[in-house]
Amino acid sequence: MFECAEWITHKENKLYEPVCFIKKFYVNGKIKKATLNVTSLGCYYPQLNNKRVGNFILAPGFTSRKRVQYQEYDVTSMLKEASVNNLEILVGDGWYNGKINFGVAQNVPKALIAQLNIEYENGQFEQIVTDSSWLARKDKLRFAELYDGEIYDSNYRDTPVNAQLLSHDKSIIVKQQGPDVIEQERIKPKAIIKAPNGDTLVDFGQNLTGYFEFTTEAKRGQSVAFTVCEELDKEGNFYNENYRDAKARFEYICHEGTNTYKPTLAFWGFRYLRVDSFPCEITLDSINAIVVHSDIKRTGYLDSSSPLLNQLFSNIIWGQKGNFLDIPTDCPQRDERQGWTGDATVFCRTASYNFYCEKFFEKWLTDLRLDQGEKGNIPNIIPQTVCWDWSTTENTGAVWGDSATIIPYQMYLTYGNEEILKNQYDCMVKYLGYIEATTKEKYLWSGCDQFGDWLGLDAPSGSYRGSSNEDFIASVFYYNSVKIVEQVSEIIGKDSQKYKELKEKILEKIRATFKQYKTQTECALALYFDIVEDKKSVAKQLADMIKANDNKLQTGFVGTPYLLHALSQNGYSEVAYDLLLQEGFPSWLYSVKLGATTMWEHWDGKNEQGEFWSENMNSFNHYAYGSVGDWVYQEACGIKPRLPGFEQVTIEPHPTHKLDYLSASIDTKYGKISSKWYHENGKVKYKITTPVSAIVIIDGKAHKVEKGEYTF
Ligand code: BGC
Repeated sequence: MFECAEWITHKENKLYEPVCFIKKFYVNGKIKKATLNVTSLGCYYPQLNNKRVGNFILAPGFTSRKRVQYQEYDVTSMLKEASVNNLEILVGDGWYNGKINFGVAQNVPKALIAQLNIEYENGQFEQIVTDSSWLARKDKLRFAELYDGEIYDSNYRDTPVNAQLLSHDKSIIVKQQGPDVIEQERIKPKAIIKAPNGDTLVDFGQNLTGYFEFTTEAKRGQSVAFTVCEELDKEGNFYNENYRDAKARFEYICHEGTNTYKPTLAFWGFRYLRVDSFPCEITLDSINAIVVHSDIKRTGYLDSSSPLLNQLFSNIIWGQKGNFLDIPTDCPQRDERQGWTGDATVFCRTASYNFYCEKFFEKWLTDLRLDQGEKGNIPNIIPQTVCWDWSTTENTGAVWGDSATIIPYQMYLTYGNEEILKNQYDCMVKYLGYIEATTKEKYLWSGCDQFGDWLGLDAPSGSYRGSSNEDFIASVFYYNSVKIVEQVSEIIGKDSQKYKELKEKILEKIRATFKQYKTQTECALALYFDIVEDKKSVAKQLADMIKANDNKLQTGFVGTPYLLHALSQNGYSEVAYDLLLQEGFPSWLYSVKLGATTMWEHWDGKNEQGEFWSENMNSFNHYAYGSVGDWVYQEACGIKPRLPGFEQVTIEPHPTHKLDYLSASIDTKYGKISSKWYHENGKVKYKITTPVSAIVIIDGKAHKVEKGEYTF
């Protein structure tokens, strides 16, 4: 592909100024098939004869800088026969360059490479490729940058000049690996609000990721301008200090008459728009929000008798939609939107039940192994950006680095994908080597810089790191990763013995070194990862700690995903439910009661008076704590893969009297598995559907069943 095509650029490449590349050509004959292949250094938006080609938003996607994906579009029906055709491809900086790179942007040239193959009915072929015959002009889209937004001047005209050839490696071009990123749904505004300070705000009623589309009548030169935010302050005024350095703006200069527009090379995370300018009175019909994310199919559903809990389930889903835009991001709004590996690690199981995201993670894991450092370290954000290059530094945090083992293994468990294990195996092994080489003490992971139990509420004042022992956390995850590599070695036919031995030595050393657990997170990890021998007493310690803390958790990114599992697996389901159903601060339902429509980054993102805890690091769309979803699927409703990919299933629900009913379903490649429990005449009833043979465990009693529908 692209053998005859050249990379082309504009001779005056300016940062954040998109460039449009143009080719006019005559189609002479009847077309049998026409295919357009395109990629860019930057993000591109292709049009043929004034119509958008394909529907991939922000193509070619976000990958390691070691590769760039190309897209292939069938344009047969878009070409005009016996006529001049006009191909225009707009290229902006996108993820390739700019503030998204976490540092001083470098003015590396935006560039395009394209190849249009036309096959005629008469058997002839024609190829139109990017070369110096293409023209290049500055576009009406005067400015596009992912954090800051777009500026579009519909009256702007530039005279095209010849495109310039750019010498750039073509061997980095690969076929698109992940799912398309597309427009998913349109959301009408819920209300137009007059804020106390006089601002006009559009409220979409849902924190979401994407952009907006508006229509207005205008005089030439009038403008439309919005700034976005997720939350209003306690007075009900616009608040976006938590976007930090991201300006999150949009500006559009109108032409005379009717103006309809939606952005093409930017996205925002928002619930509200502040209307900074609009030519006429903005109404509910003037504008819609457009939700954009990777095209992953919804597979998991949760439902309960509690409206608050159902809102939490919805927030988990929206947290995933908002942060699965080609890569798994920490958040979609502020000046980050990066593939933070730890966030994806703790959320990947819930994510894989909620949506079919095998291909999505396959792509991202490919970038993870491409960006792995030479010493085996896993950069804390994947893909690496041009300025914040972690592959050359020695910094890999536990849990964040364990994305290398935990995520591929979860894809294997959820989807039965062995290929992913084969592809990621060397990366996993190298990662273990990195830990071995950096730890200060053999058979532990100690003495290194860690993120700890990130955002744990038991953090010493002024710190983001919970007070759990960081060496303990790192060593537990080291142990877990060795265990995974041992299992993977067996699955794909490699020597597993050395990992078995290593695993045993690590466990012995952890037990000898960390004899006491002082935090909820330490207890939860000791139980969940089978570190402790006397599970009974540690489970009691954990349950007592929670009760003494008013039935409230204190855990951060690392403890939270395992906390409820550790409780319900050790006889304390009721304590787990106390935490799940807790409405006071801190808890999952606390944010729901304060009106959250997505997951918050911090338990204390906002207090009951409506005050924000800080403008620094306060995202209202961060999925990490949404990891509680997998406890509801796996433990509360009890659906667990017995064989990878749910080829066989175990269903062991944990009902409670605190809810009237709870249900979960997961669409697997074998069909839908569902588990519901409810109370009837003072008894708990279970309704179970399985498409494969299953072991159903009710009140500790196992029933082996074949595919079908059952009530117990
Ligand atoms: C991100 C997190 C991330 C963390 C690690 C933050 O800025 O938003 O979600 O995992 O940094 O330090």
